[in-house]
Amino acid sequence: MKRAALAFSGGLDTTVCVPLLEEEYDYDEVIGVTVDVGQPEAEFDEAEETAEALGLEHYVVDATEAFAEQCLDSVKANATYQGYPLGTALARPIIAEAILDVAEEHDCDALAHGCTGKGNDQLRFEAVWRSSDLDVVAPVRELGLTREWEMEYADDHDLPVEGGNEGVWSIDTNLWSRSIEGGNLEDPGYVPPEDIYEWTDAPGAETELVEIEFEEGYPVALDGEEKDAVELIEELNELAGAHGVGRTDMMEDRMLGLKVRENYEHPAATTLLAAHEGLEGLVLTKEERSFKQQVEQQWAEKAYEGLLAHPLMDALEGFVDETQEKVTGTVTVKFDGGQARPVARESDYAVYSEAAASFNTETVQGIEQADATGVAKYHGFQARLANEAEKAAEEKQAVATDGGETDE
Ligand code: ARG
Repeated sequence: MKRAALAFSGGLDTTVCVPLLEEEYDYDEVIGVTVDVGQPEAEFDEAEETAEALGLEHYVVDATEAFAEQCLDSVKANATYQGYPLGTALARPIIAEAILDVAEEHDCDALAHGCTGKGNDQLRFEAVWRSSDLDVVAPVRELGLTREWEMEYADDHDLPVEGGNEGVWSIDTNLWSRSIEGGNLEDPGYVPPEDIYEWTDAPGAETELVEIEFEEGYPVALDGEEKDAVELIEELNELAGAHGVGRTDMMEDRMLGLKVRENYEHPAATTLLAAHEGLEGLVLTKEERSFKQQVEQQWAEKAYEGLLAHPLMDALEGFVDETQEKVTGTVTVKFDGGQARPVARESDYAVYSEAAASFNTETVQGIEQADATGVAKYHGFQARLANEAEKAAEEKQAVATDGGETDE
């Protein structure tokens, strides 16, 4: 008796995988697993209905809380990949882990997904799954299936695929972002119509202020009210989305080297990332901020690749967490013309002396204006030396060449 656990959404790819796992891979039993990371209700209804029509044993695992906390943790690292706040990327390891748990509970021999051989998700799923003892199968990729073939196969086998979410665009939604790709959007020269957006309204003239409180780099309250991770993200998606905050239209470099045109909506992510960076600007030193950017770049790349379990991540997080001990305070963000801008920040850890920065005070810590004269004299000293040396060397060479010519 061989059993496989399939990552199941009820879409075309995962639906055709069910009979294919039995026919082509000889599994006696397939169970479908759908993991909740904040998709819209309709997607669960679709998965349930399709599973029922297929006679598929189906499990739904709620991972919204773990996912929301992972998203807020990523804010500590100001995590974006080429400008995108990593919604899909951060969700995949959590989904993969949840499916692995169900598979082990039900004594499965294999794990299966319906990803194609072109995208990132196959790599993210398998990065988690291949650390288990179970077999990994990817029918769509391994059998080289195309959408047309799948449609025909579904038709021949009377599979329940009509309706569904197979609209004009290919959409991937979770709490942290909604991603829209495919159709005309595949042409980088095509201007996206307003109706691809569901979370964000077109930016208008109205503005709004929100206040976000951080504890050690982690957002804990909105407008003075404590929120758990899911509430905070959901509420900010609403508030900031109404002002058109958090739209990204980008050329994304996928892991396998393909460039893809992607559109994203992520109002809460944009707001929290802007607020967090705003607070860091107040409490971290210039040196910490500049080194942290290198750490952040590495963290985001590995997160994009689905490698949250890479030992490098622990090391990078060690640095990030150390810096975040001071990132406690409050930031006011203004939603204004599609932007989320920090407009006020406060912290007990502010590396800031109003007296030192102001033009009105004579001495601070024994330093007075005139002390800068020595610094100003030294500033650029090496550059001046280097430029003088170069000029002198050129003159010396010119004299030597002139001398040579007159000698002849
Ligand atoms: N390219 C993005 C990523 O790999 C998201 C792709 C989401 N899929 C979709 N059908 N829109 O993170």
